[in-house]
Amino acid sequence: MHHSFVAELAAPGCKVPVRACDIESSPVWLWPSIGEYPVYDEVAYEAMIKDKRRMSAYSDAVRRYAPGRTVVDIGTGQDAVWALAAARAGARHVWAVEVIPKSARIARKNIEQAGFADRITVVEGLSTEIELPEPVDVCVSEIIGTLAGSEGAGSVLRDARKRLVKPDGVFIPHRSATTAVALDLDSAYLGEHPGFPTLVLRYVEEVFASVGRPFDLRVAVEGVQDNPAVRERSYLSGAVEVEPLEFNGDLDPEGTDGAELTFTRAGNVSGLALGMRLWVAEDDEPIDSLTQSSSWAPVYAPLAEEGLSVRPGDRFVFDFTTTLSDDGVHPDYALTGELHRTDGPAVPLSWGSTHHGDGFRATPFYRSLFPGPGAP
Ligand SMILES: C[S@@+](CC[C@H](N)C(=O)[O-])C[C@H]1O[C@@H](n2cnc3c(N)ncnc32)[C@H](O)[C@@H]1O
Repeated sequence: MHHSFVAELAAPGCKVPVRACDIESSPVWLWPSIGEYPVYDEVAYEAMIKDKRRMSAYSDAVRRYAPGRTVVDIGTGQDAVWALAAARAGARHVWAVEVIPKSARIARKNIEQAGFADRITVVEGLSTEIELPEPVDVCVSEIIGTLAGSEGAGSVLRDARKRLVKPDGVFIPHRSATTAVALDLDSAYLGEHPGFPTLVLRYVEEVFASVGRPFDLRVAVEGVQDNPAVRERSYLSGAVEVEPLEFNGDLDPEGTDGAELTFTRAGNVSGLALGMRLWVAEDDEPIDSLTQSSSWAPVYAPLAEEGLSVRPGDRFVFDFTTTLSDDGVHPDYALTGELHRTDGPAVPLSWGSTHHGDGFRATPFYRSLFPGPGAP
């Protein structure tokens, strides 16, 4: 038995009711996608550092490429993990860039304490706005979002390629893609309304405060990807890749990708789970947030709240479009497609998610998550 209940968000100007849940009794719960907003805190950084697969893939790649080279670490975070790993591996000099002032301050202290202040220079600011004394040999970053490009990796690393890194410089990670799989959300939740655990409500408040108003923020579904039984009953198709980002090749942060999902089991499709695959080095097996436990979780893209019944062999054919929002960095996403079923006419379905939000309680899913006046 699990329970959701209505709590209230307290962010200034954003006092709205929100569906919360008890994490102990919920097999699956929601989490706001926070990486694309400046709301990192100790807990968020620690979750990334505890992600063993991520840590070991990055450590291996840094040890391989950093010795004797100059390095820029974009988004070093408070722990300066890749800057320190590069220095320990024998990098000649590292520039560690961080936009959040508090994180940059703590990074500087950690680097001093580790005895690397002479080889690592912390640069506070956005990588797209700072200058380096000379282009570097290696760029390391982990600004990969819940959807691969949602933290701005496409535009930020394209800028780094132009201005901060030598023409033949190496980028870690090598490649990313956003992934999509058809989801039966009711089966994942066993019919219960999904909610946020109370410990993440402060992130929802901070995201709303950073944008200045409540909006239908992207929410990740936790508890599906790392639980084979839940995956088995709620993923209805194989996965496809969209939004390919080639960090060591031609990098285009915008575009439209056509894709097709084929249903492999019968169920009620209510939307898509959108995840990411990340190849930290070229020959690595990718980290896959749809099927592995990691510091990333798939975002829920609602398409048909009541669910549409599907059978094996039915198909969802869609276009997935990425455009940069008006901040020039963070993408807005849009998806339009048709569900083709053997026993009926094609059903048009669409989804959209902007970075800093133009809709609030726009769909039944968000009206249930933010049950305000007039919402069911
Ligand atoms: C996902 S965290 C990664 C932290 C650390 N590098 C790690 O891998 O554990 C991303 C960090 O990058 C910072 N960031 C994102 N885009 C940036 C940019 N363009 N310039 C500087 N910092 C950025 C964020 O503030 C955040 O601290």
